[in-house]
Amino acid sequence: MASIQPSRGWLARWLAACADLADLHDHNPLLDAVIQEIDGRLIRVDDRWVIDFASCNYLGLDLDEQVIAQIPGYLRQWGTHPGWSRMLGSPILYREIEAHLTELLGAPDTLLLQTLTHIHASVIPVLANDGTIFLDARAHKTIYDGCEVARAHGASVQRFAHNDPDDLERLLRQSPAGPRLVCMDGVNSMTGNPPDLAAFVRLAGDHDALLYVDDAHGFGVIGERGPDELCPYGRRGNGVVRHLGETYDNLILTAGLSKAYSSLLAFVTCPPSLKRLLKLAAPPYLYSGPSPVASLASALVGLQVNQARGDQLRASLYRKTRRILDHLDQLGAGSLNGSAFPIIEVPLANPDQLNQVGQFLFDHGIYVSLAFYPGVPREEVGFRLQVTAANTDDQIDQLLAVLDELATTFPLRPPRP
Ligand SMILES: Cc1ncc(COP(=O)(O)O)c(C=O)c1O
Repeated sequence: MASIQPSRGWLARWLAACADLADLHDHNPLLDAVIQEIDGRLIRVDDRWVIDFASCNYLGLDLDEQVIAQIPGYLRQWGTHPGWSRMLGSPILYREIEAHLTELLGAPDTLLLQTLTHIHASVIPVLANDGTIFLDARAHKTIYDGCEVARAHGASVQRFAHNDPDDLERLLRQSPAGPRLVCMDGVNSMTGNPPDLAAFVRLAGDHDALLYVDDAHGFGVIGERGPDELCPYGRRGNGVVRHLGETYDNLILTAGLSKAYSSLLAFVTCPPSLKRLLKLAAPPYLYSGPSPVASLASALVGLQVNQARGDQLRASLYRKTRRILDHLDQLGAGSLNGSAFPIIEVPLANPDQLNQVGQFLFDHGIYVSLAFYPGVPREEVGFRLQVTAANTDDQIDQLLAVLDELATTFPLRPPRP
């Protein structure tokens, strides 16, 4: 790269396109940090310890003693990393995890691949074929990228307004015959809110379309409802489809284990015939290096922990999230979160203060992720708090005190009318 002139040509155009982010990147300690050490949900960046509210390890299994204790046994048995692509050969751990997931989800079957990014790039083109993809405007970037691969393979792509079944219906009515795939997030990664799944399931059924849902942030956190649930997240953490009382008829659910289960793995639900096809047609199954053994082990043990005490972890997660949301209400701040799921985006009254706000939070010992333009609309520029079961109540207390102080200097955007 040293020989490329940044002032000329394509590199300069790319840098100009990312100018807002480049500015934050250069000046803000919350971006691209080197984390030197961790101690529970405290992290050290250079010589400063800060509380981590940017982790997606929702159940805290990355720090769970039972999970950590069991990984070395698997490493001794299997070595650190399988040297085969999955098509060449898969350690039996895959079959065990897939069987466990299939039962937990109540799905017809599941297929494990490395990440959701791999799944979207390889499964969406198979499902869309030469038909039409209807893409939720606020779907995750990795879904967009999967749709681009599908477009290169002959599909056409149309966008509908975020979580707007009426807009989707308008497009479905106009669309030509042929395969139809509707792609969207489950629990949205920025707002923390679930989609109106019942309406989309109904529409997909009426228009002979297949629904494809990415529940990276719901799986492990929310699940089926029942009278014995310990909190409104429901039971078992089996994801948005079960939480909202839907089924896998005409619906493909994808989710990663790299968030709630702290393991580099992801799955796609599929009827057995589709599973067979994906094994033959999805390049990450055929050709890519597989997940490391430590991730297979942490997924397997994590699923056992989920069975034994997942609902208690979720109840603690809900209680901590509720404390933050109630406090934001008292402050008159309008989070985008209407679900009480543990992703809390807090927009600023003045988006131009984002850099200073990030610095303020860091200087006061709070680590968050920044929501910057154009990643989010300008009226949503702010910061995102993620809560995990491993955050302590003391850490929540400290966060709330810092939010009080922050709001006196940097006004938070009030709720939308
Ligand atoms: C909604 C959503 N989908 C996909 C991904 C990418 O997941 P993976 O790391 O498994 O590729 C993310 C990561 O943040 C996400 O939030």
